[in-house]
Amino acid sequence: MKFTVLSLFPEILDGFFQSSLMKKAVERGLIDVQFVNIRDYAQDKHKTCDDIPYGGGAGMVLKPEPLAAALDAVGAGQKRTLYPTPSGRLFNQATATELAREEEIIFICGRYEGIDQRIIDEYVDDEISIGDYVLSSGEIASLVIIDAVYRLREGVIKAHSLEEESFSNGLLEYPQYTRPEVFRDRKVPEVLLSGHHKNIEVWRRQQSVEKTKRLRPDLLGLPASD
Ligand code: 6GU
Repeated sequence: MKFTVLSLFPEILDGFFQSSLMKKAVERGLIDVQFVNIRDYAQDKHKTCDDIPYGGGAGMVLKPEPLAAALDAVGAGQKRTLYPTPSGRLFNQATATELAREEEIIFICGRYEGIDQRIIDEYVDDEISIGDYVLSSGEIASLVIIDAVYRLREGVIKAHSLEEESFSNGLLEYPQYTRPEVFRDRKVPEVLLSGHHKNIEVWRRQQSVEKTKRLRPDLLGLPASD
């Protein structure tokens, strides 16, 4: 699977792709990545990529010409193209699963007040928000989406590791413990030491349901508690 990321600040993206699990996935040929610096496609001697909004208002908007040239250079017309933006539809685990079926995804990282609407109209398949808050950079949001997606690809993580994690069954994950058996007077729940697999499974399920009710009642179709 290939991720192509168009950005004015590709150095923000570097560290993530140098990190352990992603680095291994790239080395093993499971994931390919390409960063494109939008400024390389600027069309004047000052390399201008933004301008003031028509109609007035605060901030700057990414100009259409450099973005269009960068998008054409990576063949965006024929490829799934995402624009991460706080004004998009909400990203969740189901979106990640769906995107993980693609062989290539192009990301447009916006800045400032956003990008010219005509780029969205002409190239963008999905406008996606990662949550109801505002980040200063589309790079961080793109990395969040990439991280949620690439780990679902065959071979990146052991399949059974994905089975029990939060959201895979519509519930939050149960609490985990490792050694030592007692830490600062807090003991590991007895059932986990019992070796009784059925009882452990039942306990974990109860814990998942209880935690989901407490922290995310919306996942169970329940009203928010406060
Ligand atoms: Cl996708 N981008 C930015 N800049 N802020 C966000 C976001 C995306 N999703 C939530 N906040």
